[in-house]
Amino acid sequence: MKTITVKRPAAERLRAFHPWVYRTDILQAAGDPGDLVAVHDPGGAFLGIGYINPASEISVRILSFSRVEINRDFFRERLLTAFRKREVLAGRTDACRLVHAEADELPGLIVDDYAGHLVLQVNTLGMERMQELLLPELLELRRPKGIYGKSDAASRRREGLDTEDRVLHGEIPGRIEIREGGARFLVSLREGQKTGFFLDQRRNREIVSSCINKGDRVLDVFAHTGAFGIHAALNGAGRVRLVDASREALALARENMALNGVSGEAVRADAFDFLTEAPGTRDRYDLVILDPPPFAKAKRSTAGALKGMRHLIAQSLRILRPGGLLAVFSCSHHVSQEDLGVALLEAAADRGGRVEVLEHLFQDRDHPQILNIPMSLYLKGFLVRSL
Ligand SMILES: C[S@@+](CC[C@H](N)C(=O)[O-])C[C@H]1O[C@@H](n2cnc3c(N)ncnc32)[C@H](O)[C@@H]1O
Repeated sequence: MKTITVKRPAAERLRAFHPWVYRTDILQAAGDPGDLVAVHDPGGAFLGIGYINPASEISVRILSFSRVEINRDFFRERLLTAFRKREVLAGRTDACRLVHAEADELPGLIVDDYAGHLVLQVNTLGMERMQELLLPELLELRRPKGIYGKSDAASRRREGLDTEDRVLHGEIPGRIEIREGGARFLVSLREGQKTGFFLDQRRNREIVSSCINKGDRVLDVFAHTGAFGIHAALNGAGRVRLVDASREALALARENMALNGVSGEAVRADAFDFLTEAPGTRDRYDLVILDPPPFAKAKRSTAGALKGMRHLIAQSLRILRPGGLLAVFSCSHHVSQEDLGVALLEAAADRGGRVEVLEHLFQDRDHPQILNIPMSLYLKGFLVRSL
């Protein structure tokens, strides 16, 4: 195996178990794209083993901070450790993220399980090369009904890879039914956003829907296939309105409402337009949910994203009944919980009001948060009462 040497600050980062080496960290490079390399500090001390791709800004991703052999046994152990972490979800659902990339020490790899059907997202050249070691272990350990390869186009492009969208094993039906608490949802692995469903919000849907009082009016903005709204309806909400820009997501949301025997209205609209006009209508709500896509995909767009969030929050507060609740989220790495809190505070101040924090919300346990890897915490939210 070839050895690369990194600068001192990068060596310190790796010693603190951060798994990335940037192109600018490298003093002496070696290895072809996708190769395994040993990473050393300028004094020659071993730091870890990773795979290299000089074409990517993140040029090395560490697989292990110990001297181990990267073979089928290595991947078996990594997968088993990841699966054990998900045991906490047993009985609550039959759909979860089994592998969450760097947070499960398998950089570049995401594996989601939808009732025994797996979606595999391979986002780096190095992990693509590791497939021949990893896939047989995954098949043996999970015995999935099917595996669908669905890779994130933008990250693969950055790594010089083609996109992938195909059945890799077994059968993948057009719709898969999953269970989450007392609700059931249809998921389309082929056509759905991300790998098909926003699994990371599972715990937050539980928390938010537990606050529903019988007959409450609920507005679920950025509703996707209706998961928050449907949980609210099952918990007694009297009227549920879903808003999303995606025709396909809303079509599935309607099917999901029927599947759960609840009724609601699915409105196709741009959320900004909808919420800009909403205070001028007579509709008022006991709960508004705001779960937008990541507006700040890069650090430089954080200020603009927060301005947008402030507007959405301020408009939502305007259409709440006195004492009503707002659940607001950001799934952008670059927006911190503190940033989101400030956006809430400013939006409340705009209308001379206050907010009481009922819950700080985060991604569920199958999307592990590793304190040494700040980027592993990406989904943040608040459940607040408008005072
Ligand atoms: C993070 S997902 C919401 C997940 C959903 N709350 C759930 O629990 O399944 C964001 C959603 O916002 C929708 N979206 C993106 N931009 C939008 C816009 N400008 N107006 C309305 N919806 C939008 C997407 O179609 C997507 O369904």
